[in-house]
Amino acid sequence: MTGTDLDPIETASLDELRALQLERLRWSLRHAYDNVPYYRRMFDTAAVHPDDVKTLAGLADFPLTDKASLRANYPFGMFAVPREKVARIHASSGTTGQPTVVGSTAADIDTWANLMARSIRAAGGRPGHLVHVAYGYGLFTGGLGAHYGAERLGCTVVPVSGGMTRRQVTLIRDFRPDIIMVTPSYLLAILDEMERQGSDPARSSLRYAICGAEPWTGGMRAEIEARAGLDATDIYGLSEVMGPGVAQECVETKDGPHLWEDHFYPEIIDPVTGKVLPDGEPGELVLTSLTREAMPVIRYRTRDLTRLLPGTARTMRRMEKITGRGDDMIILRGVNLFPTQVEELILGVSALSPHFQLHLSRDGRMDAMAVRVERRPDASAGDARAAGERLAALVKDTIGVTAAVTVTDPGTIERSTGKMRRIIDEREK
Ligand code: DLL
Repeated sequence: MTGTDLDPIETASLDELRALQLERLRWSLRHAYDNVPYYRRMFDTAAVHPDDVKTLAGLADFPLTDKASLRANYPFGMFAVPREKVARIHASSGTTGQPTVVGSTAADIDTWANLMARSIRAAGGRPGHLVHVAYGYGLFTGGLGAHYGAERLGCTVVPVSGGMTRRQVTLIRDFRPDIIMVTPSYLLAILDEMERQGSDPARSSLRYAICGAEPWTGGMRAEIEARAGLDATDIYGLSEVMGPGVAQECVETKDGPHLWEDHFYPEIIDPVTGKVLPDGEPGELVLTSLTREAMPVIRYRTRDLTRLLPGTARTMRRMEKITGRGDDMIILRGVNLFPTQVEELILGVSALSPHFQLHLSRDGRMDAMAVRVERRPDASAGDARAAGERLAALVKDTIGVTAAVTVTDPGTIERSTGKMRRIIDEREK
């Protein structure tokens, strides 16, 4: 792959793509069965065998895998190759303690670099562009994943990592990057800092932002694009399956990330029954790796809620922008809601900034939610008060729950340098 040329498979016919997937699926199932005792046990128990799979739909007979399966085999029990053949290890932090480990062989890292190069190109990136990587480097897959992909595409990479926001702004001013790769919430913090230093973000050199690692809405995209004068696209991935670059939105359509289906086979299941749902139906995304050597994943439950949509700019299917994770769903007096729904409403009220958090507490036997959101720097105290009342009414009318809204001064809500913590749970466990 060079320059602006797409990988041939990106625009191959659906028949060609499905044939390649079936061949790779059979390899991946066989690889997992032969080399990972966990999968062998699970397949045997379910009385399924890789050789039985004659169609892609046959995958649905295989058992689902989840984070608990990975944890139970901590640290290296899910590897399908001897540890000596693993070239790199990443891990996801894991809010509940034990991290989830993922290994890659040299060939896996090579594939990952190609998929990230493909993703950056789909986002508008070209060889020769200067890429500012503000995803964290380290065990988190964001920084190194972006880094290898940008190098592979032939870009100049600046490996800044997250944090030290003033320095981020200095480097953007002095190095004049074309592209920034960053979580959407941290990009907002960088734009705020530019303004604080008296410069207009829209006049910066940045032309493309490749944002992911956390849910963000169409309203947030509009905000980022208008303020920074660039094209922002959505990148999706998770460490258990590879890292960033499992799916990427194309800049020419901006209609949801295309899943790179030549390497990952997607299914949507009903999160309660586990039943596979047809394309177009909302549910939980389940991914099967088709080429991963070190740590194949078979029917891995991502917990991410989305839908599969037909391909547009590419042959491969798209996923709808993620509304939230099963884990982030708030159940308030019987109503289910996600932080992204509140984000969408906040962005519709002009005096409010997109910096917000949701605080959950217990009021007697009932759960209560308070929204803390900053006013925009140019909004007056009076505007802020009216905006708070307006937001409370919108939350009541559109989501159907009562929430106390507090509008705070600019800079009072914690800033993340990576994934933003939207929910502060103050309920007693
Ligand atoms: O967040 C990998 C990544 C890095 C993706 C940089 C994109 C950019 P984990 O830390 O394992 O890996 O977290 C994975 O983050 O299951 C989703 O819940 C969420 N997530 C990732 N990308 C998006 C996105 C990286 N574009 C988890 N939209 C996933 C919404 C996302 N949520």
